[in-house]
Formats: sequence, C-alpha cells, structure tokens
Amino acid sequence: MYAMSDLPHEDLGASWRKARPRPAGRHLDSAASSRQSHRALEAAAHHARHEAELGGYVAEAASDDLLQQGRSVIGGLAGMAAADVAFGESAQAALVALLTGWRLPAGSRVACLPGEYAPNIAQLRTYGLRPEPLPVDGVGRADVAAVARLLADDPPAFVHLTHIPSHRGVLQPAAEIAALCREAGVPLVLDAAQSLGHADTDLGADVVYGTSRKWLAGPRGVGVLCVRPALARQLTPVLPEPEGVPPMRAFESGEAHVAGRVGLVVAVGEHLAAGPHRVRERLGAIGRATREILDGVGGWRVIEPVDEPTATTTLTPPDGVDVVDARTRLLTEHGIVLSAIGPERAPGEMTGPVLRVSPHLDASIDDLEALAAAL
Ligand SMILES: Cc1ncc(COP(=O)(O)O)c(C=O)c1O
Repeated sequence: MYAMSDLPHEDLGASWRKARPRPAGRHLDSAASSRQSHRALEAAAHHARHEAELGGYVAEAASDDLLQQGRSVIGGLAGMAAADVAFGESAQAALVALLTGWRLPAGSRVACLPGEYAPNIAQLRTYGLRPEPLPVDGVGRADVAAVARLLADDPPAFVHLTHIPSHRGVLQPAAEIAALCREAGVPLVLDAAQSLGHADTDLGADVVYGTSRKWLAGPRGVGVLCVRPALARQLTPVLPEPEGVPPMRAFESGEAHVAGRVGLVVAVGEHLAAGPHRVRERLGAIGRATREILDGVGGWRVIEPVDEPTATTTLTPPDGVDVVDARTRLLTEHGIVLSAIGPERAPGEMTGPVLRVSPHLDASIDDLEALAAAL
C-alpha cells in the first residue's frame, strides 16, 4: 500500500491544488489539457477586461513588458533568449510557422520516431517533406548509437524528435540526440508539447516548440516556437519585421488571443516559482506510483517502464474491453477524467488503443487507488 509520504515534495502538491479551482472529479488528464490556476485565470480575465476598457490594441501595448518577460522565461526553459521566442496558437501552429519559414526543398528527408504524432507527420508531408524513421528500441525510445550511425552515414535535412509522445509516457534521450545532431551539423527540432513543464527542455535543440495548456497549465489556444538565431536566420517569414524588431516576431500571429498569452506568462511564472527541478521529481514519482498501483489491475497492463521519469502512463486493455467505453464510464460513473488514445494517434508504433493516465502535481495516492478500484 502506498502512503502520501511516498511522493516527494508534498508541499508542491498541496500548493498546486490550493492555487486552482476545486476539480469537479478526479482530473488525471494533463497530457490532454491541465487545470489553470486562479492567478492565470484572473490575469487572462483582467486583460480581456482591459481590452473592453481601453481598446484591444491599447491593452496589448500595455501588456508589452509582461509578454516580453514571458518570452524571456519561456526562452529560458528552452535554453534560448526572449528574441528567439514567438507566441502562437498551439504546438501544431508553431510547427506550421517553422515549416512555412524554412522553405525546405520538396523531398527533403526528416528523421522522426516511428511513433511520431500522426498530425506532425501529416504536416511534414503537407510541406513536401519525407519523414523517415529513427532507430528505436522495444518501447519506442531512440537508439542513440544507431542514431549516431544514421547521422554519419545518411544525414537528413533535420531531425524532428517528439520529446515525450502523446500516446506513451516515454522520455526520449533528447540531450544525447542534440549533441549528436550538433556534431553532425543536422538541426534538431524538439516537439516539447508534452515536455514543457514536465521534463527538462534546455538540452541544446535548435528548435523547441510546444503548447500552453498541458504541463505548463496555461490557457488553451496558446503555443510557443523557440528557434536559435543561427536557424532563425535561415527562415523566411511571409512578412519580415522592420529593422530593430527580433526576426522571430514575424512568426507571431498579429491577431491573437492576447489574454491567453498573458495567462500563459503567469502560469510559466508559477512553474518557475515551484522549481522546475522539484516539479520534475514529483511528476516522475507520481508516474512511478501510477504504474505500480495500476499495472495488472482488472487485466489492464502498463506499457512504460515503471521508473520512467514522466507522469504519463498508458494501459492496454484486457481482452474484450473497449477503451473508449472504459474512458466514458470512468468519467460518467466515477468522475475520473483521462483519455482514450486510438492507434491512429501514432500508427507507426501503436498496435491498439490505450487508456492514458496523466496526473499533475496535485494527484494523490487516493486518486490513483480510486482509479484502480474503478478499473
Ligand atoms: C506530442 C504532441 N505534439 C503535438 C501536439 C499538438 O499540440 P497542439 O494541440 O497544441 O497543437 C500534441 C497534443 O496533444 C502532442 O501530444
């Protein structure tokens, strides 16, 4: 049996819980969309009110300094500077902005995980690029030695690495791959949609992009694109910025949910105040507890290694159990929020649907045991 004291940094769990509205049930779904804090919600609402009082463009100008601080802090999470950061609407929108600016010749090869997020593959193909598989082991983790050989023998135009996949709580060896890419002169693009606020993303990638609503617990409809200057200089925006404005600003949509960006800046500030290192330790411990408590329960089997340092766990169903139905029943009969992920999410790797459990810092052992009992 687990006790609360088995999870480190219990103060973080308590403060994270206290900082936001009480959940209607048991929310174990931050890999889909997390829960915002009162302060992030209020900051966004306050900005929206300002728009009504002052005018949208006057309110935006008044929030310039805050947004710039946000770019600086977000850049810091990626090991970059404020000038390297562009706000966008989502992780997908960030990838689209990058590919639009990069203008790589059609047919250029892009190395990605076999378990790459299907919408990312679709975007690469839309831009005429050719996704090719990176070598991986049995859980879908990049095989670093084999990647080194691939980069030496037949380097692609770039490597696109999804740091933590959507369908599996496996942390990819991004720092090792960043070092290999740098040595080989091959740019590394890191999809950090599932890793910003969850894992260390300051690893030397040339591009880090992600989204607000998941582990950073910011508003929906906001994303970020961070590009190192050497690569940013190779991008051609549709409309360049005037002299003196950071070139990456050309990749920010002019019309935007500015209130959402303000909310994200507050959420990122809270993440930093909590201590990213402590956040990662607690999230990893929650992942471990989730796997230990759930593996084998009712015939459900955990896919991830038990000590994988992430908070995301996926479960394959017992024979004859429909994952979508199970997810619906957990929600409607037990008030437990989590996700059913179909194989279309990552058809290069998934052989069937999984149930994804992704608790944030406030999860308790009681939540996990309630889920085990319901399963
Ligand atoms: C690994 C990964 N990449 C990209 C995305 C897309 O993020 P967004 O919905 O913000 O475009 C997701 C969302 O689930 C994801 O899990």
